[in-house]
Amino acid sequence: MSNNAYLTVRRYEGVPDSKQAASRVQEFIPLISKIPGFISYYLVDEGDGVTVSVSVFTTREAEEESNRLAADFIKQHLAPLLPNPPQITAGQVVARATPSGSSNDSAIGAAARGGDSENGCACLAQQMSKSSRATARRKRADSTNAELTPRKLQVLRETFSLLEPHAGNAGLAFYRNLFNSAPSLRPLFQSSIELQARKLMEALSYTIATFEQPEALLPVLEAMGRRHVSYGVVDEHYDIAIQAMLQTFAQMLEAKFSSEARDAWEEALFFVARVMKRGAADAAVPKQVHR
Ligand code: HEM
Repeated sequence: MSNNAYLTVRRYEGVPDSKQAASRVQEFIPLISKIPGFISYYLVDEGDGVTVSVSVFTTREAEEESNRLAADFIKQHLAPLLPNPPQITAGQVVARATPSGSSNDSAIGAAARGGDSENGCACLAQQMSKSSRATARRKRADSTNAELTPRKLQVLRETFSLLEPHAGNAGLAFYRNLFNSAPSLRPLFQSSIELQARKLMEALSYTIATFEQPEALLPVLEAMGRRHVSYGVVDEHYDIAIQAMLQTFAQMLEAKFSSEARDAWEEALFFVARVMKRGAADAAVPKQVHR
């Protein structure tokens, strides 16, 4: 199990109206989820005027930045609702468990079970799984799962290695195809398309490299899905992007993009989209866990 996770717990006492505080925290979530390395955020109303937040990141810098950001946000927007400075517990996650109890499952398998490997806090994950929202999401994930066989993984890696020397062109061709099929998506992209193309290819490269390591892949995809909410991306956009990616691979690889390769990519991209959408769904509502 990877230990590349840093967790920070902020415990606020003397909260006069915890419901209102939780509702105002919704405005904080888009800010914290933009910190590079963000994995997840939870808000717990303990009762008796105690509110606790738990955030998980991939780096210590991100974890420290979150505490600075929270302090600024509270000073500017929440001072009457969180009048006391928080008690902060922070550090590297040195052990964690997932519902599967195994660190060797494939990412696909973990997603199929709705495995919550994004965080370093199994107790929270278990409590959250009691909510009907989480249960419904897991059922959706179960029903859409497909196995990515070792052969398909091999095909993915082979085709991607053919594309990699032309990654810049492939990325640009993807955006051309995307905007041709859905011109209304163009305004969502604010930064340079060259830079964006490179980031997309890096993300695909990382995905392929870590497909068999859910603890490395799922948190990254879920966090990426959460960030996409702030770009204005909605679930319906994913199918359009997947078709544009498949079209791009076919154009770039021509006959080498066999029907077997197309099937493998389709399955892998739908898997990526599914995990990103799950992350996006988590971004929409702050977690409230009641004991
Ligand atoms: C297979 C799914 C996708 C992958 C792997 C992916 C990957 C990425 C990556 C790596 C970034 C860089 C910033 C970040 O990491 O947050 C990004 C940004 C972005 N993506 Fe995606 N993306 C996917 C789906 C989509 C879809 C469906 C849309 C809908 C139009 C979209 C629109 C955007 C936008 C608007 C940005 C921000 C661009 C900017 O900063 O100007 N992405 N994407």
